[in-house]
Amino acid sequence: MPATCVIGLQWGDEAKGKVVDLLTQQHDIVVRYQGGANAGHTVVAGGEVYKLSLIPSGIFRPGVQCVVAGGTVLNPEALLQEIDGLTARGVQVGKNLMISDRAHVIFPWHFEEDRLMTDQGADAESIGTTLRGIGPCYRDKVGRSWAIRLGDMYRASFRDQIEKVAAAKTRSLSSLGAGGETFQLDAGRIFQQYSDHAERLRPYVADTTAYLLDAIEAGKRILFEGAQGALLDIDHGTFPFVTSSNSSGAGVAAGAGVPGRVVTKVVGILKAYCTRVGGGPFPTEQDNQVGQHIRDRGNEYGTVTRRPRRCGWFDAVAARYTVRLSDVDVLAVMLLDVLSELPEIHICTGYELDGRRIVDFPSHVDDVRRVVPVYETLPGWNQEISDVRHYDDLPTAARNYVSRIGQLVGRPVGLVSVGPDREQTIVVKSQNI
Ligand code: IMP
Repeated sequence: MPATCVIGLQWGDEAKGKVVDLLTQQHDIVVRYQGGANAGHTVVAGGEVYKLSLIPSGIFRPGVQCVVAGGTVLNPEALLQEIDGLTARGVQVGKNLMISDRAHVIFPWHFEEDRLMTDQGADAESIGTTLRGIGPCYRDKVGRSWAIRLGDMYRASFRDQIEKVAAAKTRSLSSLGAGGETFQLDAGRIFQQYSDHAERLRPYVADTTAYLLDAIEAGKRILFEGAQGALLDIDHGTFPFVTSSNSSGAGVAAGAGVPGRVVTKVVGILKAYCTRVGGGPFPTEQDNQVGQHIRDRGNEYGTVTRRPRRCGWFDAVAARYTVRLSDVDVLAVMLLDVLSELPEIHICTGYELDGRRIVDFPSHVDDVRRVVPVYETLPGWNQEISDVRHYDDLPTAARNYVSRIGQLVGRPVGLVSVGPDREQTIVVKSQNI
């Protein structure tokens, strides 16, 4: 049975939510498997705009089972707010949502650590995290001793666990300078608060690994929904300016708890240009009028943090790298309408490093910072395209631009998006997305 995964191929915010929403029609189960409330997925359904952080966008389709798998990190309060927000707007959230007992839980100390690390990195270029406690929580998961999983919150030992970790964190945070001498975590209060959250989450908590393994055997169609983008992957992205999970295709098996070979199709999502939030190198960045044009037309402000996103030209070197890394079968090119009315459009087709032409995306962040992009210039198109529904009705210049992207990154384009609504989508008939 087909299992599809949707992977962002740039630095996140590629409008994956919209593609996941479209693909959900062909699937029985939608799975989020890494990241946490640092992600912000916008879905426009029935004219209504929804912002999701952790709950898979499949929640809007009746009959679809949504799974938040063990590779994610959860802030219970944020998750409950998301559930309450959806319920208040008439979206059904009940048995159709399942949350892994293996997922790691974000605690108040993680927020404090995220904030402190950001402050302390202030003179150097800071990673500019979303301050959602994501990195500190993943750090504790890998370190093991101070980690608490969702399943732990239902055990008699939970109180002892909180007391032990809160005491250790009080010591370590005090030494990092949090709140001066007086920094103290109130273990009793945290225990009470998290126990209350745990009770409210209880109906959703399950062994999602067992559920997914059974579902695979039963031939269910599964959609794996990646968060962030492959250039933010902890192992393969522009380290250390990355998130703390595997946001490339590499993350599916580990995060969801399924064998890697169950995935039969990889859909790669690209913006028609590039954006990045937070620090880190960005070879094709346009800190000028072009960047501003893109930011204004594309409403390029963070869904989670509202920070203005850095904007620049499409980078085919970076995209070719992430396409191969995740073995993408078919591409979706998003936000093409944002580039309308630019007289000409540049695509980065190669880099120069120390006067030499290179074709591979550099492994070291200093080299990514030093590369000089080599551009190819294509004519722009002067008309609005947000009403176009058929590929052949796009202006010739827009079609040429899209097909050049496919050519340069070496994969076919199966979908082009020309606006946020479900309807503003052009499916390229010859490609099976
Ligand atoms: P963290 O994931 O909050 O630790 O942030 C690490 C880096 O990843 C920062 O540069 C964030 O701006 C970036 N980041 C995290 N989540 C997203 C996302 O969903 N979209 C875009 N960038 C993200």
